[in-house]
Amino acid sequence: MSSLVRPPHYFAPLTTPSALHTVDLTVTYGEKEALYATSLTFPQKKITSLIGASGSGKSTFLRCLNRLNDRVATVAGQIFYHDWDINHPTTNVYALRREIGMVFQRPNPFYKSIAENITFALKKNGLTDKKLLQERLETSLKDVALWDEVKDDLTKSALALSGGQQQRLCIARALALQPEILLLDEPASALDPISTAKLEETLLRLKKDYTIIMVTHNMQQAARASDYTAFFQLGEVLEFDTTTQIFTAPHVQLTEDYVTGHFG
Ligand SMILES: Nc1ncnc2c1ncn2[C@@H]1O[C@H](COP(=O)(O)OP(=O)(O)OP(=O)(O)O)[C@@H](O)[C@H]1O
Ligand SMILES: [Mg+2]
Repeated sequence: MSSLVRPPHYFAPLTTPSALHTVDLTVTYGEKEALYATSLTFPQKKITSLIGASGSGKSTFLRCLNRLNDRVATVAGQIFYHDWDINHPTTNVYALRREIGMVFQRPNPFYKSIAENITFALKKNGLTDKKLLQERLETSLKDVALWDEVKDDLTKSALALSGGQQQRLCIARALALQPEILLLDEPASALDPISTAKLEETLLRLKKDYTIIMVTHNMQQAARASDYTAFFQLGEVLEFDTTTQIFTAPHVQLTEDYVTGHFG
């Protein structure tokens, strides 16, 4: 990392507006530097994949965007959500997480009914109008193509759903708060190929309205679903470009080695 000879980097210039960018984001866990001087810009209403070998810092990076590393690591550098410096002491973290939603690797529905999984946070945020709550419930479940599967079981436990359905429910739960950005950490890693395909269709539909940042180990998934790709290696982003460029003609040799399966 910082003390080593640094490998070549390549960052394609962005021509579309961005929703979020980081400036020299550096993260240390105790003595261990997990992320070094990462400066990335995420285009609006596009899907960006974060790829790289295990331990390369992808989750560390994603968690910073949601202020989930606050008490866990030392975070230096800056993160701007539009003009908002999200690490500023005046930041209301709950407000931030309404704008930037996060979905984790393992589906983590609440021990509540399907409907309450969606409406719980809305009610906590002061939405009490039953008609509006019902509307938001229906729209977010439709957004993830789950409505038809669960509309007659809304009062049943979310834990009775399959893993793939639970993961789509967790995405619907994040969407119900109407965030601008959706962060997904390996959202399909626990899913079978059919559920994975459904999830990818969902993401492609969602990018009409949302900016999506997704960690994935699945190269086909990154190639199919994302517009841009960032390649992480040993805590640094070595290359950022359109997904087509990364997968067909990357500028950095290590990126090519990784996407063609020659290491990692
Ligand atoms: N809470 C923590 N405390 C200490 N070290 C951590 C912690 N979380 C992550 N690390 C270390 O930081 C480095 C980056 O980890 P991170 O989880 O970000 O990698 P990753 O790219 O998401 O890997 P994977 O693909 O396996 O999920 C690793 O060396 C890891 O051991
Ligand atoms: Mg990870």
